Amino acid sequence: MSLVSGCLGINSAGRLTIGGVDVTELAKEFETPLYIMDEGQIRQNCRAFSEAMAASYPGNWAVAYASKAFACKHMYRVIQEEDMLTDVASGGELFTALGGGLPPESIIFHGNNKTDEELRYAVKTGIRRVVANGTEELRRISRIAGESGRTVSVSLRLSPGIEPDTFSAVQTGQLDSKFGIPIETGDAMEAVRLALSLDGVELQGIHCHIGSQIFDTRPFTMTAEVMVSFMAKVRDELSFSLKELNLGGGYAVRYLPDQEVLSISDYVGAITKTVQDTAKRHGLPLPELVIEPGRAIVADAGITVYTVGSVKEILGVRTYLSVDGGMTDNPRYMLYGAEYDILLPARALESKTQTVTLAGRCCENELLGVDMPIQPVKAGDLLAVLNTGAYNYSMASNYNRVPRPPVVMVREGKPFLAVRRETWDDVARLDN
Ligand SMILES: Cc1ncc(COP(=O)(O)O)c(C=O)c1O
Repeated sequence: MSLVSGCLGINSAGRLTIGGVDVTELAKEFETPLYIMDEGQIRQNCRAFSEAMAASYPGNWAVAYASKAFACKHMYRVIQEEDMLTDVASGGELFTALGGGLPPESIIFHGNNKTDEELRYAVKTGIRRVVANGTEELRRISRIAGESGRTVSVSLRLSPGIEPDTFSAVQTGQLDSKFGIPIETGDAMEAVRLALSLDGVELQGIHCHIGSQIFDTRPFTMTAEVMVSFMAKVRDELSFSLKELNLGGGYAVRYLPDQEVLSISDYVGAITKTVQDTAKRHGLPLPELVIEPGRAIVADAGITVYTVGSVKEILGVRTYLSVDGGMTDNPRYMLYGAEYDILLPARALESKTQTVTLAGRCCENELLGVDMPIQPVKAGDLLAVLNTGAYNYSMASNYNRVPRPPVVMVREGKPFLAVRRETWDDVARLDN
């Protein structure tokens, strides 16, 4: 049986383990539905990116964890210990990151249409970089910097005009996008000009993020070439040196056992080579290079464990399995048909002879996946959805007033609650 993540295993009793701990035992102790994450796998993923950058890029570099993939105070502590930067995409993520003890100078603030309140908070706390998504935001940053008598270190989010082959909801670098200032229309050059003229704004660099779950190096290298060439154009037209180049995230991870993915070192190596080649061609010094993996840091570190409530077989049609979670803890199938591997943790070695459609408990025709192979299953069985560490907990909702599951972290074989289970009281706590 091939498992989709290195932190998963099967013990001598034929049961699924994560970080060496028996998943069935964890479900007994913490109940279902339950997110479980392995801290060792998260750290291994962090190091794989840092080592690949160190090995292939002779200039200054940094790896920033895109914390929208999975954010809680403990996760931010791990990122700090791994000596990485962090990207936050809202005031709430920034608040949690600072609450987790992250130094402000390690935080990059992204997001479309940040509010004045968020920008004031970012300016007051003195974070490393605010990434402006457009010229209107740039002017607001300048105004807010003026109000507080500070200078804000800024980067500009550009859209390089690259359309990667991935779900349209996670394509973000093409011309027709709410994200970024387009290069091809001339708007990006005008934005640089504006940034250089505004008080309270110190322009450090440019940023882009073309999308997520991209399997091929080509869109990344095309983007790197466009961005470095733009830096050269800024030097030529405005006699200004942009110091930092942030190329965002987007590296695709494996969700199904037979999926082919790039290695982290091939992905990083392709980008760093293009940046170096293009800089050399234009006679530019090497920029400080930042990448922002999110999914790749946490996806394969997590699983979700449910209890099967009912098995509904419609002869000649399909078999529905309903579990005690659903789109409230994992909306990704409903959002973009995302696929996952599933198995029964208590009988992990048995052959997957059944095919099921996995349904949730919401009052909605909501699914977690269709036509999924699984071991022979019955009501009351535990069921694990694998590689749910990214964009599951962070995208969870309280639809139907369903409380969100807890996150149990396994560290060196010991489980602890990184996030406790929500209660009905939590769900109703804001109501007057
Ligand atoms: C600005 C930015 N950086 C990084 C990421 C992380 O992308 P991924 O999780 O695909 O690595 C995202 C994801 O949306 C993003 O918007």
